[in-house]
Amino acid sequence: LGRFSAVIDAHRPVRRPKAGTARSDRCSVYRDFQEAGIDVINTVSGMQSVADRVRGQAKTIAFVPTMGFLHEGHLSLMRLARRAGDVLAVSIFVNPTQFGPEEDFDRYPRAFDRDLALTEAEGVDVVFAPTAAELYPEGFETYVQLEHLPHHLCGLSRPVFFRGVATVVTKLFHIVQPHVAVFGEKDYQQLLVIRKMVRDLNMGIEILAGATVREADGLAMSSRNNYLTEEQRYSALCLRHALDKAQTMAAAGTRSCRRIIAAAQELIEARPQTEIDYIRIFHPETLQDIETIEGPARMALAVKIATTRLIDNDRLDPGTGGAENGRDSEPGA
Ligand code: PAF
Repeated sequence: LGRFSAVIDAHRPVRRPKAGTARSDRCSVYRDFQEAGIDVINTVSGMQSVADRVRGQAKTIAFVPTMGFLHEGHLSLMRLARRAGDVLAVSIFVNPTQFGPEEDFDRYPRAFDRDLALTEAEGVDVVFAPTAAELYPEGFETYVQLEHLPHHLCGLSRPVFFRGVATVVTKLFHIVQPHVAVFGEKDYQQLLVIRKMVRDLNMGIEILAGATVREADGLAMSSRNNYLTEEQRYSALCLRHALDKAQTMAAAGTRSCRRIIAAAQELIEARPQTEIDYIRIFHPETLQDIETIEGPARMALAVKIATTRLIDNDRLDPGTGGAENGRDSEPGA
């Protein structure tokens, strides 16, 4: 733990399970990781008391909330967070309130022991891994909801998603008490929702964005990639290819978003087992659709590959290429 050992040592008694605590109340590898120096905390009061102590020592807390099944994308956020604060906290919690009734909450991949090994290797100081009952006790009825940002992109097909995310992230912020928190750009709308919420509710937490981490062939890393068969994994590349196509067209001078979206749609529909949820080009701050690419623009898409819904996004930069605005003149359009 190096320079953080003083902080961790100071609160070590807090995290030791009481004698007689049922094993099921603790994480299965609690002892191993305690010996390795990582804190695994399952209770709200335990986490709050650690946060109080860290803050009491005038140290800063950097936080990465996750739903576990960690991959290189999460680890890159942890590395960013590691540089942004004195103590690095990670939460692992598959949040039921952000899944709709027909969604994959039950089958969402979980690999807790493996996740702990990865966090330990990244030098994470504290893992907060509560149960659902700990975060949403009997009688829970308070939610955080944004008025406008959720009514775009993913919010249209996942109506409870952003309410669930805003609620759980607010709770996690109150419990972990970070100075800085890191979110991935792959979930671009989520990043904007969190930034807006933090500003609107005066939470005083700095929100950092981590760039999307991709497999060698361009597929954005996601825990849900784990659901894909080999053939579906091939089809899933259409998300990145559609973004590449859009960027090439924009750089070549195509301004018409309608034409760029049509080209992306054609490319995606040519792959087996694909079903487009949305392809949108929008203003990067408001998420409002735009018709022509004149200034800042971003494209996002959600595509179902068989039963697995994947998302991706990237910026579109207007180029000075030969295509004229909105005309069908540039190659491949
Ligand atoms: O991005 C995620 O993994 C989740 O939406 C988050 C932010 C951890 C909230 O459950």
